[in-house]
Amino acid sequence: MIKIAPSLLSADFSQLAEQVARIESAGADALHLDVMDGHFVPNLTFGAPLIKALRPRSKLLFDAHLMVNSPQKMLPWFAKAGADYITIHAEAVDDIAAVIKQIHALGVKAGVALKPQTPAQVLQSVINQLDLVLIMTVEPGFGGQQFMTDQLPKIAKIRSMIGNNHAILSVDGGINAQTAPMAIAAGADMLVAGTYVFKSTDWRSAIQQLRLGDGK
Ligand code: DX5
Ligand code: ZN
Repeated sequence: MIKIAPSLLSADFSQLAEQVARIESAGADALHLDVMDGHFVPNLTFGAPLIKALRPRSKLLFDAHLMVNSPQKMLPWFAKAGADYITIHAEAVDDIAAVIKQIHALGVKAGVALKPQTPAQVLQSVINQLDLVLIMTVEPGFGGQQFMTDQLPKIAKIRSMIGNNHAILSVDGGINAQTAPMAIAAGADMLVAGTYVFKSTDWRSAIQQLRLGDGK
């Protein structure tokens, strides 16, 4: 079944603990945590202390998406904060394989994200080591942008590269009831959705609606 990971970025920041409890009871599978440093992307959000504060409030998988330069030095912070998955950007590091090893050594599952212009091939040599691949279907930095359909072939390409390996294929950016079926048809296992879920009046039905794309 398709997993749905609402992005905290679109939640009401004045009442985060309540929002997390409510999204969990609405049927979310994971909580996507968009960490931005104001350098790798032109926006600034939150860091490990906030994730640490929310950790005891939820049983959801915590999926930390690090949109930061030089993530290596920060990895222990996110591991200690209780992230289940740490996803770094391929464009932010020189040696992807070394960073994956570092994440695993911290006892955390490792993901790599690709910006829209970055080809699937950069993951060729590390695909067997990965627990998650995050395909960006918007330019990272902001919620509420439009899904880039030109990324669909890349999703399909990564799907075939993963083959029988266990890595989750997650798609992030502009996911809604219209675009979810396209991402799922191309091979997504997990959909990240900020605006569509958090700005809807009924979070449970919004989550179900996104899952419907797989026909189950
Ligand atoms: C963008 C973030 C996304 C974003 C998704 O840089 O990585 O996770 O919050 O938001 P929507 O679903 O609104 O595109
Ligand atoms: Zn994200």
